[in-house]
Order: sequence, then C-alpha cells, then structure tokens
Amino acid sequence: MNILDLKKPIWFMRQAGRHLPEYRKIRAKKNNFLDFCFDYESIVRSTLQPIERYDIDCAIIFSDILVIPYILDQKIDFIQGMGPKLETLEIKDLLNLTLNRRKEKDLDNCYRAIRKVRKLLNKNKCLIGFCGAPLTVACYMIDGESKKGFIKTKKLLKSDKLKVKKLLRKIVDVSTVHLINQYKSGCDTLMIFESWAGSVDFKHYNDFLYEPVKQIIKNLRSLNVNAPIIVFPKGIGKKIVDYSNNVFADIISIDQNIEMSWAIKNIQKDIILQGNIDPEKLLIGGRDLETSVKKLLKTVSNRKHIFNLGHGILPGTPISNVHKVINIVRSC
Ligand code: CP3
Repeated sequence: MNILDLKKPIWFMRQAGRHLPEYRKIRAKKNNFLDFCFDYESIVRSTLQPIERYDIDCAIIFSDILVIPYILDQKIDFIQGMGPKLETLEIKDLLNLTLNRRKEKDLDNCYRAIRKVRKLLNKNKCLIGFCGAPLTVACYMIDGESKKGFIKTKKLLKSDKLKVKKLLRKIVDVSTVHLINQYKSGCDTLMIFESWAGSVDFKHYNDFLYEPVKQIIKNLRSLNVNAPIIVFPKGIGKKIVDYSNNVFADIISIDQNIEMSWAIKNIQKDIILQGNIDPEKLLIGGRDLETSVKKLLKTVSNRKHIFNLGHGILPGTPISNVHKVINIVRSC
C-alpha cells in the first residue's frame, strides 16, 4: 500500500540503524558499511527490524544515497565516526566517470531484497525506495566529505556552473534508473533526499535544486511510475514555499527549523506535509517531547500529514522515547 493510501501514517527517517541494538548486532558482522549495504540478508533484516520492533506504517529499504557515486566508480569509504570519504577528483574527472558494470551488479542485491521485503511485509504497510537529490550527491562527489562544509562545491557552483550542471545531469540519469528499479522491485513510495539544499544561494535554486529533481520526477512519470514522491529539501527555511511550487512532488518533508503552522498556511494545499519533530527532542525525551508531539498533532489536525522527524533518528536515541511518540500519535 503506498503512503497516500494509509490513514495516519507514522515512520521515522533513519529508523533502521544504530539506535537499534538488533541493527548493531548484525552490522558488527561486517567491517565495511558498503559490504553491509550490498548484502541481501543484511538489507532484508535491517529494513524489517524497525517494523518488527515498532509496528510503524512504512519500511524504508536499507541502503544509502552514496551508492550512486559507488556505481559510477568513484572510490568510497565509510570511516567509523568520520562519515563517508570519497576519492578526491577534479570536476573534469568526475565528468569522465562511467558506470562500473560490476559495481552496478551489487545493486541487484538491493532490488532482490526489496522483492523479499515486499513479500514479508504486511500489505497494509508501505515500502519506501529512495535516492539522494543530485545536488546533495554532487556535494559528496566534489568535496569527498561533509566535514568541511562543502567549500569546494560552493566555489564550483559559482565558478563553473556549466560543468556542475553536466555532472548533475549524469546523476539524474543514474538516479532515475535506480528509482525505477526500486519501484519495479516493489517499492510503492519514493523519496528524494536533498540534505544539503542549504548549500545553494537562492539565485541558483533553479539550476541546482529544482531542475535536477524536476527532471527525475518527469522521467519517472513518463515511464508510468505512479508512486507518490516525497522530497526533503533540508535547511531551506522559508524558501520551501518556492521549492514546493517548482518541484512537482506529492509530499514535502519539513525539517525542524520550520514552524509547521507556518508551513500549513504557506505551502500549497494539495501538497502533503511530512515531519517535523526535532530529533534532539526524541533523543532527550521527557515532557518536552510529549508537548511537542501533541502540539504538532493539533497543528496538523485539519491537513493530511505524515508523522516523522525533521531529520534522522540520532544514534543514542532511547527506544522507549520512540515508543512513547508512537503511542501518543496512535492514541490521538
Ligand atoms: O533507516 C533508514 O533511513 C534507511 C537507511 C538510510 C541510510 N542512509 C543508512 C545509513 C538512508 C535513507 C540514508 C540516507 C542518507 N545517507 C542521507 C540522506 C538523509 C540524511 O541523513 O540527511 C545522507 C546525507 C547519507 C550519507 C551518509 N551515510 C552519511 C553522512 C553517513 C555517515 C554518518 C551517519 O549518519 O552515520 C552514512 C552512513 C549510514 N547510512 C549509516 C546508516 C545506518 C551509519 C553507518 C553504520 O551503521 O556504520
């Protein structure tokens, strides 16, 4: 069942992962994060773990947005405590990258896992497939890491717009195929993560944020992929209104820095809103969490809304806090 067919859906970004002891247990069996990400059994189990523990409404297939540079043959490593580290390449070398057929084959395990998860998952639950938005993926490809605030990317967006646009087109093509394959394997809802939307100047939004995402959606629709599409332009602030008017998505995920009451007033009525509890509040718990969840539910009571956080669950989040939120949402 896709996410729009569900009544009052609730799920959490990064619901699979380090806050779950059962995830840490299977994750410990593989040294390398990518080996885990491409291992059929690990994908199936880690995708289902949050559903088994919390009985929430959506599963999101366990993978990462950086599988795209990986299949484009840019070397990538996930270093514990440091995050991803990609081989440093100049823009001209990035433009020369082509699909590595052997590495692309690794994604077959992801698609096979989607088919298996769809079989095991209750028909009333939705299964989300995803990719990174092209600019966010390009940020990692150009800078190689996120620790320094994507300085190289920001400079290049100003000094060599045409080359960046060319790189974005390459990412659009590969991401379109990846989303179609996820859809055909059984994902009924698709999500595009623009985690670094905040790195772009407003005057360049059209070229770097809107056009690439619009193109992916247009490609999907022209190939009869009719799954609802969620976009998540993180860190964009009030420009989210302009964003939602320009990128033709069904659902927009809202980060914790935007007031939901403001979003309801300002974002066009036919777009469904998702979010936006602060992950820090979920981490800390207590009365403040309870009050925020109740306030959010009251704010969205007259509009279709998908309950979620403003970003991913933080690794140290207590499981009891997640249960507490689910209980409040379900009892309202
Ligand atoms: O439960 C889920 O949400 C599904 C799995 C998922 C992961 N990454 C697993 C993961 C999803 C949807 C992502 C998306 C992702 N990956 C984004 C977009 C969303 C966001 O958080 O902004 C981004 C920017 C990435 C890139 C990435 N992957 C980073 C920066 C890191 C390291 C930092 C971190 O959060 O750990 C990863 C690694 C990663 N991806 C982990 C997980 C569970 C942790 C690695 C581990 O278990 O060792």
